[in-house]
Amino acid sequence: MGVSPFLLLGLVFVAIAAVAYFVYASFVFGAGYQPTPRRSVATMLRFAELGERDTLYDLGAGTGAIVFRAARTYRARVVAVEVEPIRVLVLRLRRALGPFGDLVTVRWGDFFRLDFREATVVTAFLWPGAMRRLRPKLERELRPGARVVSHVHPVRAWIPEAYDRETDVYLYRFPPRPSGATDGS
Ligand SMILES: C[S@@+](CC[C@H](N)C(=O)[O-])C[C@H]1O[C@@H](n2cnc3c(N)ncnc32)[C@H](O)[C@@H]1O
Repeated sequence: MGVSPFLLLGLVFVAIAAVAYFVYASFVFGAGYQPTPRRSVATMLRFAELGERDTLYDLGAGTGAIVFRAARTYRARVVAVEVEPIRVLVLRLRRALGPFGDLVTVRWGDFFRLDFREATVVTAFLWPGAMRRLRPKLERELRPGARVVSHVHPVRAWIPEAYDRETDVYLYRFPPRPSGATDGS
């Protein structure tokens, strides 16, 4: 007896819905899911001049591409903020099972509701609307010398201190220089 085509169709539908949920549901908060490529993570952490005395906030930590590299390679303290619960579970498992988990704090929630004052480095791979909403909050809360490193999407109202074209990474240092461009925020 063969498998019913309706069952097959149902399974395909469920699989597509599950992938769509995992990748796109968090869009309403600021970005869908796409891990930062390894080479871009390397540029981001090098640009940030990350070290043991730093506290890095990864805004929308995904499954931890930036988080665990920052803790393992640079021994930085890392706060991983993520809104999507399955990714939070993955982050917590990696934290519990991998090395240097004691350096990592995983927070489940919306980073727009979090205070960034203790961050010396902020990393982001978010969609343009979220970068626009984020700028005034960063300007209110970050201290002089803090670095903001963004993959793909710039903060249009600031002039970057550095940009790596190959890996598409922007570096800003506080207080950033205004670019004069309006970003609508
Ligand atoms: C493009 S992924 C980047 C993931 C990770 N930073 C990396 O580099 O691999 C963006 C992540 O941000 C999360 N996200 C989007 N808006 C958020 C918000 N307001 N608060 C917390 N997480 C958010 C999404 O769920 C998604 O996992």
